[in-house]
Amino acid sequence: MSLRITLSLAAALTFSAGVAIAAPAADEPIQPIPAAKVKDANLVELGKKLYFDTRLSKSGFISCNSCHNLSMGGTDNLKTSIGHNWNKGPINAPTVLNSSMNLAQFWDGRAADLKAQAGGPIANPGEMASNHALAVEVLQSIPGYVDEFKKVFGSDKVTIDEVTKAIAAFEETLVTPNSRFDKWLKGDKKALTATELAGYNLFKDSGCTACHNGPAVGGNSFQKMGVVEPYTATSPAEGRVAVTKDEADRFNFKVPTLRNVELTYPYFHDGEAATLSKAVETMGRIQLGKNFTADENAKIVAFLKSLTGEQPSFKMPILPPSSDATPRPTPFEK
Ligand code: HEC
Ligand code: HEC
Repeated sequence: MSLRITLSLAAALTFSAGVAIAAPAADEPIQPIPAAKVKDANLVELGKKLYFDTRLSKSGFISCNSCHNLSMGGTDNLKTSIGHNWNKGPINAPTVLNSSMNLAQFWDGRAADLKAQAGGPIANPGEMASNHALAVEVLQSIPGYVDEFKKVFGSDKVTIDEVTKAIAAFEETLVTPNSRFDKWLKGDKKALTATELAGYNLFKDSGCTACHNGPAVGGNSFQKMGVVEPYTATSPAEGRVAVTKDEADRFNFKVPTLRNVELTYPYFHDGEAATLSKAVETMGRIQLGKNFTADENAKIVAFLKSLTGEQPSFKMPILPPSSDATPRPTPFEK
């Protein structure tokens, strides 16, 4: 029901935007991404270190960046992730880029925000396989960290709450402004080619913007995967129902952001769509009942690639060394 309302809203938007040649950005269903505002530079710097620190894992080998590689669009570019002990992950790793704009975290939205999310992977046996007590013990044994936590939080005692707070603050800086599409939205009409613009119009006119809208081009609602045609999934993930226990939410997933989608292959919660062209074909067919021609598909793909923004750039953090008291990693223990 609510979906039907949003779809007709998209159709209404389409009519008004379709005639305008240079519609002002305010009329568009997608808005530019604002640059990150850093409130506490020391907190962000600490969070960056923790994001890259493999010592938060049992193996001493896996960090957040192992699966959300900031050199590769904030993902691992794998169908499903590899966790502790080469564990085969159950679901595709979404990008951390622009994740601060999500209405909730994870495909099923089970974490309310980035801080709530960040504790999960450290203690997940299939991911980093540590636990919060051990992670804190490790950090507490490293003098360089103790000093830095003290500088930021004012106490000698490291807590998991501080760890997740710092990681979340770093993640909030991982936004990707100034894509060519955003330049176009802001009035630089030469920023897009005719093909990309045609792709954007197809994206709007077909109804994609009913679900992929706002600054992140998604991330702001849960929607059914397979609205007009069921999606045959290879993974057991059941979507939002796992959180709400409401049958109406079965196979509802958080609509992923399409920002930087050129970099975040493969696609869908099961990683089954290897290419952007395949993802667009599937979406058109199962969400909207549209069979795009090869030419239409290529135009939409061209538009989607214009959503690649400036990637976060920073100096690689140099991590403080372990001390004699630091618990040693156990990479080959189950
Ligand atoms: C072993 C691989 C792996 C590691 C290590 C890992 N993640 Fe993830 N991450 C995933 C997967 C897979 C998901 C999706 C899980 C789901 O939705 O059920 C995910 C989801 C997320 C999300 C939610 C994004 C969204 O759009 O919903 C964020 C944010 C995130 N991870 C941040 C982190 C941080 C911070 C760390 C380090 C503390 C970390 N991850 C470590 C694989 C990993
Ligand atoms: C009814 C809502 C809805 C509509 C309409 C819709 N999508 Fe989606 N889109 C989703 C959801 C939900 C997912 C995630 C599905 C999953 O993985 O289970 C998704 C995933 C995607 C992905 C994969 C992103 C990733 O990181 O895995 C792409 C690309 C995409 N959509 C493009 C489109 C295009 C192009 C259109 C229009 C032809 C469209 N979508 C229409 C809801 C929608």
